[in-house]
Amino acid sequence: MKAKLTYSKSFRIGSIDPKIYGSFVEHLGRCVYGGIYEPGHPSADEDGFRQDVLELVRELGTPIVRYPGGNFVSGYNWEDGTGPKEQRPRRAELAWHTIETNEVGIDEFAKWAKKAGVEIMEAVNLGTRGPDDARRLVEYCNFPGGTELSERRIRNGHLKPFNIKTWCLGNEMDGPWQIGAKTADEYGRAATEAAKVMRELDPDIKLVACGSSNSGMPTFGKWEATVLGHAYDLVDYVSLHSYYGNRDGDIPKFLASSLNMDAFIKTVVSICDYVAATKRSSKKMMLSFDEWNVWFHSNDADTQIPRWTIAPPQLEDKYDFADALVVGTLLTTLMNNCDRVKMACIAQLVNVIAPIMTREGGGAWRQTIFYPFSLSSKYGRGDTLRPALDCPSYTVENPTPFGTTETTEVPYLETAGVLNEEKGELTVFVTNRSMDESADLTLKLEGFDAVLAEHILLQSDRFDAVNTEEHPDAVAPSSTAPNAATRNGEIAVAIEPHSYNVLRFKLK
Ligand code: AHR
Repeated sequence: MKAKLTYSKSFRIGSIDPKIYGSFVEHLGRCVYGGIYEPGHPSADEDGFRQDVLELVRELGTPIVRYPGGNFVSGYNWEDGTGPKEQRPRRAELAWHTIETNEVGIDEFAKWAKKAGVEIMEAVNLGTRGPDDARRLVEYCNFPGGTELSERRIRNGHLKPFNIKTWCLGNEMDGPWQIGAKTADEYGRAATEAAKVMRELDPDIKLVACGSSNSGMPTFGKWEATVLGHAYDLVDYVSLHSYYGNRDGDIPKFLASSLNMDAFIKTVVSICDYVAATKRSSKKMMLSFDEWNVWFHSNDADTQIPRWTIAPPQLEDKYDFADALVVGTLLTTLMNNCDRVKMACIAQLVNVIAPIMTREGGGAWRQTIFYPFSLSSKYGRGDTLRPALDCPSYTVENPTPFGTTETTEVPYLETAGVLNEEKGELTVFVTNRSMDESADLTLKLEGFDAVLAEHILLQSDRFDAVNTEEHPDAVAPSSTAPNAATRNGEIAVAIEPHSYNVLRFKLK
């Protein structure tokens, strides 16, 4: 197939906030216990943190990590995870039906975050608790000293405040499965009151209000409008969550998942702007896509896990090459919406629907989806350029909420162009969704004098190829250095079928 992609230096969507490359650590399955924390593991440091995992987290390039949930947070007493470990209570954890030992809490996570070089995005419990608990947690984490809770933190070994700047006001509060689920009005009021007292303690914090758990929720749309109707002036972001899966065994359709993400984002932007209009507000609400990923491989296995065990192997999706392509397109979609999506978290970080896997007492390795993420985080920083893409498309049929189906046109190529002027680099991400056709791509770079310095390629003959501890590099990127210059502002690049590509241009 023939395709043409034009970028002009002066046509920009916006600047990428590096926080769109966030991740997520929940007290769920083996994410914390056996994931980031495993005292007794050969690579564990003095605090029990696996250094092999820490190294992979740094390589992944995530700048911010959401903690401690997820569904978990809605029944969590943060105090349980502070103070002497031998005195911490064991609790029946109702979100995931496990036993929570509380060996790790905010004190340990703050230490881990420092070692990993990441900022914390802390979630407060608006399920079983409320504004008062949220206020107390901010005081514990961010107040310098001289109060009961800040002094408690100091006694627990942290003289300096954690200074956590980003806070989630609960999690998926519209979901009937959520502990302490609420109506939109109930949640909107609770979030507003929590935001007020949290900001009294630390006026610099940024707050995320819960949007819908996913765009298929019956209250989607009304939920956002009602919640923001209450909280608009007090919050900085509204959250979006979405998980994608190849449930029909239909790869071309699965590869089109990012179109759904794009439509979801654009709809939420419209709702935010509608609320702003009703309030005559000039403030622009930003979006935090703080849970996204592929999640479906482990669904059946999870039904077999016995209840009330400690850190069972829950949600352990083994990601294949098809998943890596989808994750690549989800990331380019986030880049292309960088004017409004200012934060996003791949869910999650280790073992639980994660780019990094571990074996207890054994190795740590990169899943297939690790690569599009680390490459995006490394090279997808700067300003996203507005694309003009001319390429053939295919169609997929999608069900609508009204029992009918809808035909969607899916371009074979999914792209994002990111200009980093400081580094003198332009990076073009290209995914080819075609099962069998390569693309002769003509890139027209208006206003640039550029050399294609590196072409990174992620490709496999098998869509079901996975990385394992024994074969950690079954799916891994390769790199060539074409060193080809643009001629009259154009350059031709061959894009292989079903491939993820990072084209790195050096600007003259
Ligand atoms: O990431 C796994 C779970 O998915 C989270 O706990 C919850 O917020 C979402 O439903």
